[in-house]
Amino acid sequence: MSKIVDYLVIGSGIAGLSFALKAAQYGKVLIVTKSNEDESNTKYAQGGVAVVVDKEEDSFEKHIEDTLIAGDGLCNEEVVKIVVEEGPPRIKEIIDYGTNFDKTQQGVFDLAKEGGHSESRVLHYKDITGFEIERALLEQIHQHKNIEILTHYFAIDLITQHHLGEFVDRSSTDITCFGIYALNNNTKKVEKFLSKVTVMASGGAGHIYSITTNPTIATGDGVAMVYRAKGKVRDMEFIQFHPTALYNPGDYPSFLISEAVRGFGGILKRRNGEEFMQEYDPRKSLAPRDIVARAIDAEMKKSGDDFVYLDIRHRSKEDLLNHFPNIYAKCLSIGIDMTKDMIPVSPASHYMCGGIMVDTHGRSSILNLYACGECSSTGLHGANRLASNSLLEALVFAHRIFEDAVPKADASFMPQNIPDWNEFGVAQQNEDILVTHNIREMQKIMNDYVGIVRSDFRSERALRRLRLLYEETEDFYKKTKLSVKLCELRNLIQVAYLVVKSAMARKESRGLHYTTDYPNHAKELYNTIM
Ligand code: FAD
Ligand code: SIN
Repeated sequence: MSKIVDYLVIGSGIAGLSFALKAAQYGKVLIVTKSNEDESNTKYAQGGVAVVVDKEEDSFEKHIEDTLIAGDGLCNEEVVKIVVEEGPPRIKEIIDYGTNFDKTQQGVFDLAKEGGHSESRVLHYKDITGFEIERALLEQIHQHKNIEILTHYFAIDLITQHHLGEFVDRSSTDITCFGIYALNNNTKKVEKFLSKVTVMASGGAGHIYSITTNPTIATGDGVAMVYRAKGKVRDMEFIQFHPTALYNPGDYPSFLISEAVRGFGGILKRRNGEEFMQEYDPRKSLAPRDIVARAIDAEMKKSGDDFVYLDIRHRSKEDLLNHFPNIYAKCLSIGIDMTKDMIPVSPASHYMCGGIMVDTHGRSSILNLYACGECSSTGLHGANRLASNSLLEALVFAHRIFEDAVPKADASFMPQNIPDWNEFGVAQQNEDILVTHNIREMQKIMNDYVGIVRSDFRSERALRRLRLLYEETEDFYKKTKLSVKLCELRNLIQVAYLVVKSAMARKESRGLHYTTDYPNHAKELYNTIM
């Protein structure tokens, strides 16, 4: 099959769906998504959406300030201001689409607090906010006659001049995206989708590590595709580890214990019940995530344990059940009653702060290609994302992309001679077990050498080992029948490589990037652009 549409969207999380709903008023939208339509990081978001709704206690200035502090000097202030100030109307839109957020008995929004926030400003729906947002957006999508969703279609590569036989290198300023090649996972055939405007909304890359809160779709495909197409990616060293994933060996991915539990009074403790966060930061358990994750990592190294504890036993069962029914049920299912027991927690890879470099309208360095949501690097998060800022960022940028892309879509140019996918030379049958082994090997390299605390020595070691895996995988890819797993492996290795190279390029510690070789801030502020 081959299709031509006005707007092509890769991914059906909050970024892709909210853009699609807007663009569909002006043209045909095709959403290509690699799993079930709701499977996404969005679906698992727990804490909520940070936004200023209570102008008496809170203010834009405070939200901006908190974001800048968490970002440790590297946020783009213009972007921070845009996201914070344009947030409220975007939230109103998703409420109008049917999203529910919890309210108090007085009928006002029940605002939660999370690490790094000076005020309570997180809108939430119980502890399943993302599920609720995804539900409401998909309901709207299903009603729109201009939107088609193809599920179990895996975007493999962007189509650019390279596929027309033209030479493209990284310094070219006119690389243009004409659409994508995607693997139909039902027929195992590669299809061609052409579009005037393509929006990459493919989410994060949590699975470059073996311990992650991300669902298995998070394999960094968008970043890898853009890098392969010679587009720019930025600040890939800043991988956020969430401090409190539930420690339950065997769970893959890890279940998240929302930061909102700490916002609700949860305290991090040692095995003997002692608090420890005061030894690391005056904001204690509610310090920004980079600080809390590093503190937990240090505590685990000191004690030799694989976890610390989170204690919320002082809150009533009624309150806990009311606010955290999903977390309560999950803990109980493994024998932990959070009203009576402390919860074992440890850090897990959670969020990719860098990504496809975009400007304030979501435009990537490749013409006709926008990037939105977690796969993008807008400049909002700097060196460390403030909790609950990513859902907001996706909503604000989806709107900005819509405003920028729609007037241009008509004028876009589409060559006539774009070839079909070339399978020539592909003879070998795929063995998924080999692919799985390589994924595990890559994850182990990243866990062992490029985790929360880094060094040049470790990064160099990681790079040497990744290079070997890269060469083996590229060779395998050229000779073997395509499968989703093989494509994901290829992308994961590409993204892991970008993380390591970016980490090596940063000769300082800042935000989420901590290296024992350069423990302090450098004098100059800079971004890592690959
Ligand atoms: P996603 O929601 O991840 O969607 C990506 C989509 O792209 C998916 O549909 C996927 O299948 C598809 N896709 C990927 N690759 C391909 C491909 N090759 N071909 C076709 N389709 C592809 N943020 C907050 O602000 N507040 C929170 O409370 C919060 N809690 C979180 C809790 C958890 C457990 C996790 C994992 C994240 C949380 N985050 C939170 C982060 C936030 O959920 C994500 O950053 C955000 O949802 C990303 O949205 P997105 O649309 O960019 O990507
Ligand atoms: C959480 O609920 O702790 C996740 C919030 C986020 O990642 O923004």
